[in-house]
Amino acid sequence: MRLLILGGTQFLGRAIAAHAYTMGHDVTCAARGLAGKVPHGARFIHVDRDEPDGLALLADEEFDALVDVSRHPGQVRRAVAALKQRVEHWTFVSTVTVYADNRTTGQRADAAPLRGPTALEIEHSTEETYGAAKVACEQAIGENAFICRAGLIVGPEDPTGRFTYWPTRLDRGGEVLVPGTPDDAVQLIDVRDLAQWIVHAAQTRLVGYFDGIGPSYTRGRFLAECADALGSSCTFTWVDRAFLERHDIRRWSGPRSLPLWLPLPDYAGFNTRDTSPARDSGLTVRTLSETARDTLLWARTAGGPVTGLTADEESAALKAWHASRPQSDTDDSLATRHPAVPSR
Ligand SMILES: NC(=O)c1ccc[n+]([C@@H]2O[C@H](COP(=O)([O-])OP(=O)(O)OC[C@H]3O[C@@H](n4cnc5c(N)ncnc54)[C@H](OP(=O)(O)O)[C@@H]3O)[C@@H](O)[C@H]2O)c1
Repeated sequence: MRLLILGGTQFLGRAIAAHAYTMGHDVTCAARGLAGKVPHGARFIHVDRDEPDGLALLADEEFDALVDVSRHPGQVRRAVAALKQRVEHWTFVSTVTVYADNRTTGQRADAAPLRGPTALEIEHSTEETYGAAKVACEQAIGENAFICRAGLIVGPEDPTGRFTYWPTRLDRGGEVLVPGTPDDAVQLIDVRDLAQWIVHAAQTRLVGYFDGIGPSYTRGRFLAECADALGSSCTFTWVDRAFLERHDIRRWSGPRSLPLWLPLPDYAGFNTRDTSPARDSGLTVRTLSETARDTLLWARTAGGPVTGLTADEESAALKAWHASRPQSDTDDSLATRHPAVPSR
């Protein structure tokens, strides 16, 4: 295939370009080159999609398939106008943040309700309008495309540092502060698995709406598998939502967060999406162990970013937690020693 990636200079776009090249495809990445470099084997074309005629350099090029990772409806509309008629297969990387309902468990891409119609007015997305903007992007593309709504993407080269927190923290060992309960759900996809599926989808001309995410694990199993893979010896001290919120320990990502934690029941459905349609359409996933090991290796060798609680913040939180408990609660009844973590 002659594959055009609108993006390709960081994380997922780069992984798609790298995998497509190893599969023998002719790969072109169009971006500004600000986020990084395209991988070995891919051709780079400088474009600025915020300019009205920003894709003009692609006017004389021929492509069989295209992958767009944009989050800005204006950029997507201009790409559709310039290229949709000329490219046989179109992939748009969207997000599970397009969904309106984060509470209901086991939802599927073909039936879950989307965020509201105000999305159509958005030109440029911000952190606040990200989900609605992705809805607007999807609407601009229309039918006859592969709309891949990615969940949490993790692995080597992750610029967010949020998943990387866990392999890095578990590798340090000792008493580890962990959020919620061992039965809470965690759901993610290794960037390399998602990239492989997106290239496979282009090869097989897959179209439709799919969630691009791996299976749902319990948090207990997630931590146990990562710790096992890293040969880590640690205890897990599970702390509840009220404690985390009282101590300004934040959700999901960023400074002072316990990454990948979302409060329940508000987000009970977020990590439990039914991905059987994706599996039936060719998505395969590697083990958590492999993802954890490779991510730690990358963080160490490349100095990849890690976000979340600092060691001092975690120690202070653990101290406060133990001080807040009756003595009888501070031993094994609330701490899970690894190995021997519940799994499913
Ligand atoms: N990370 C997650 O956990 C997660 C979860 C769900 C969905 N997603 C989705 O997954 C995708 C991730 O994509 P990604 O990792 O490749 O990163 P990204 O941050 O979405 O990359 C954006 C790409 O577009 C290019 N770009 C930005 N502005 C541009 C402009 N004005 N003109 C031309 N190119 C421009 C950037 O390159 P230059 O800056 O070099 O131009 C970069 O290559 C996104 O669609 C995201 O919404 C991510």
